[in-house]
Amino acid sequence: MPRSLDPELRRALAARIRYYNELGIYDFYRRETLGEVATVAAEAAGADAVTAPIQPESREEMNPRKAAAVAAPVAVEENIFEVLAPKPEQGVSDPAKALKIIRKDLGDCTRCPLHKQGRKQIVFGVGNAAAELMFVGEGPGADEDEQGEPFVGRAGQLLNNMIKAMGLKRGQVYIANVVKCRPPGNRTPEREECETCSPFLMRQIAVIKPKVVVALGAVAAKNLLAMNASMAQLRGRFYDFRPTGVRSSDPTWDGCKLAVTYHPAFLLRDPRQKAEAWKDLQMVMKELGLRAPKSIT
Ligand code: URA
Repeated sequence: MPRSLDPELRRALAARIRYYNELGIYDFYRRETLGEVATVAAEAAGADAVTAPIQPESREEMNPRKAAAVAAPVAVEENIFEVLAPKPEQGVSDPAKALKIIRKDLGDCTRCPLHKQGRKQIVFGVGNAAAELMFVGEGPGADEDEQGEPFVGRAGQLLNNMIKAMGLKRGQVYIANVVKCRPPGNRTPEREECETCSPFLMRQIAVIKPKVVVALGAVAAKNLLAMNASMAQLRGRFYDFRPTGVRSSDPTWDGCKLAVTYHPAFLLRDPRQKAEAWKDLQMVMKELGLRAPKSIT
């Protein structure tokens, strides 16, 4: 794909490919030149192409005006190469092996600016490669950057309590982030960083094949669902979720449920919201057939 491809065209093409993915179509045939493919796909996308303006990201609901906004699909500009290319883990049925292949493919990543903004190491993900439940956060903080594992700092301690309150052990679930490198000063990851990194998260989800993904906070939710809405609008229900741009090696896995809850760091700042988060987790527990007596401490 020529680098000079018009961004609108890239968006339209990505939206069209996502649409076909949702219909279960993953294999695309290229014409002589990629330029032609882009033209044909863009023509096919026509006036329906997703061109909604990107709304500014917010980490958690803070602004009641934003909370009143109607959920709108967001144009997610994707790396078309990633969407089209077959994945090296495809056909590998052992999820632990498949995750290793994805990790190897990620390499010593320099794909986005975060690699030169002070990251110590890539924080890939941790836990049970065949987990029924997966948590997705925003991006590593200082402790995670130091230790190479997601959610090991204060927010991680609270996430551990949340997992325990559900009657589970941390090792039974899988934990990852939208971006795998620490944004400097724990700033919110930029759109470009999320879009560059999230195909790897999508691949992780496709090999783990969880029953439920829990998005921790607005950044994770908006990136996974490709929609721009407030936490108030996002929480309290399940979404049917299929990772974008990848196909699971298991043809019987037809995606999973996705729930949104507050990020543990937000709950540390506003512990009154723990009761609300507990409601979200109870909804997830019901879906997974889990029963546990506790609330989050
Ligand atoms: N916050 C996140 O979103 N992810 C981590 O891994 C740690 C803190």
